Amino acid sequence: MSDHVTVADAGAIRTVRMNRPDKKNALTAAMYEAMAAALEDAGHHTTIRCVVIAGAPGAFSAGNDLAEFSKAATTGEGLGSPVVRFLHALARSERPLVAAVQGLAVGVGTTMLLHCDHVVASDDARFSTPFVSLGLIPEAASSLLAPRLMGHRRAFELLVMGRPLDGTAAQACGLVNAVVPPGDVEAAAMKAAHDIAALPAEAVSASRRLMRGSPDETVARIDEEVRLFKQRLQSAEAQSAFDSFLTRKR
Ligand code: COA
Repeated sequence: MSDHVTVADAGAIRTVRMNRPDKKNALTAAMYEAMAAALEDAGHHTTIRCVVIAGAPGAFSAGNDLAEFSKAATTGEGLGSPVVRFLHALARSERPLVAAVQGLAVGVGTTMLLHCDHVVASDDARFSTPFVSLGLIPEAASSLLAPRLMGHRRAFELLVMGRPLDGTAAQACGLVNAVVPPGDVEAAAMKAAHDIAALPAEAVSASRRLMRGSPDETVARIDEEVRLFKQRLQSAEAQSAFDSFLTRKR
């Protein structure tokens, strides 16, 4: 488990919060494990009817910890099993997922939103996926889900060209439901979660399953991306990008 993730249940709502603000909520293996466990476990409790994923003020998440990527590149590990477990848990979540996004949402901080059923963002939110400029490829089944959501060209601009989206643009392309001032994000996300939790749970679950389709296709794409990601992590392009970030002058 990780000190950098908190899990709190209040009534029918479970809140999973990334809490490593000094590193802008960059995600470590321990954080992925804790988040995966919280999502998997939510599916075992009928009392939990919705899960809210939240971050810190100013930083939903800066994406995967680049020091861990750099280490994985050296050891030849690829995306480790905690990352894969978390991505599978997102794709197979038995409970509706709501996200409360304040500020930065980089890499998996953005791609995890593609698995959410409702997303509230702050008006200063910034969504970016600099995979390709890091020598990497999109992950979390974003290569499948983003083109489906926003069409190939907008997805290409985001995932390959690495052009960020602000809250308004994210709302226009369907990544976000509502954009509100930073101080109102958590309350708006909680309201959505309570609205979902107040509905008949079995009908929500059956509707969600129909709308999302089988998670097997999503999981298969995650696994295909993971195989390619491992090769990309070991590329000279990726290693040089990680070195530049980790040794940059401040
Ligand atoms: N991995 C590891 N550390 C990270 C990180 C990441 N993904 N993102 C931020 N940090 C760390 C910084 O190194 C810094 O640590 P330090 O104070 O010990 O030097 C701290 O978090 C604060 O980040 P800083 O860069 O000073 O904040 P900023 O507001 O100027 O910029 C970002 C924030 C997110 C734009 C910038 O940190 C960044 O580009 N991070 C990398 C994002 C990324 O490429 N993620 C992977 C996507 S696949």
